[in-house]
Amino acid sequence: MRVIVFKDQESASLAAARMVAEQMNKKPEMVLGLATGSTPIRLYEHLIDFTNQGLISFKDITTFNLDEYVGLSPDHDQSYSYFMHHHLFDHVDLPAERINLINGEALDISGEGAAYDARIQQAGGVDLQILGLGRNGHIGFNEPSDYFTAGTQLVELDDKTITDNARFFTSIDQVPRQAISMGIKTIMHAKKILLLAFGENKAETVQAAVQGKIRPELPASVLQLHPDVTFIVDKKAGALLQEGPYLLEKM
Ligand code: F6R
Repeated sequence: MRVIVFKDQESASLAAARMVAEQMNKKPEMVLGLATGSTPIRLYEHLIDFTNQGLISFKDITTFNLDEYVGLSPDHDQSYSYFMHHHLFDHVDLPAERINLINGEALDISGEGAAYDARIQQAGGVDLQILGLGRNGHIGFNEPSDYFTAGTQLVELDDKTITDNARFFTSIDQVPRQAISMGIKTIMHAKKILLLAFGENKAETVQAAVQGKIRPELPASVLQLHPDVTFIVDKKAGALLQEGPYLLEKM
């Protein structure tokens, strides 16, 4: 595990975008795993800029998103499908047929999850997975639990997640209580992982994920077992980290 602490969210997002761009140029037909939420928005803006400048192209890229709320249609303005079109897909040269999003309206949710995992496998697996980090340690929507989840499946959202995400909805009652998320096993199969976390309210979680015990009550801690994971954090999110071999660079 590598942890890179940047002076602020802006420099961290630019560095993350450069890392993604480098991988895209190394393997133009790569499979890219994507996250939603507030954290990666600036990273996506930089990827749009790079595309406009001709530095990268999405024309042969395949994408898979991490999760989707249950019950929201793709055109609902808080669905992750809508988010991705608004913040990335509509602004780059990514062919629609290479975009993979989870159907939150699927009637057979376990069938939808299994089919999604099969599609990831058929595509050759995720080359680079971008992750955010929940305050409760979730990655994707894999909430604290007493076991690590496997494949893409139905999840009951934690009260903390519902409270945190209420800021995007008109009221907390509008926040769906369930989601479909790639499982921990699916995420751990990604060849390379970039996790981004910003702000002081993520500091305790970052510290626990990087330096704490590996346990399903803090799902992101499992990333300590992944062979190629980089945490990109700003100073505020990295404030509680103690010096150690994982903390390779500070900028
Ligand atoms: C989103 C996702 C979540 C978020 C996390 C952090 O697809 O999988 O794990 O990354 O909830 O959200 P923000 O970035 O809004 O703090």
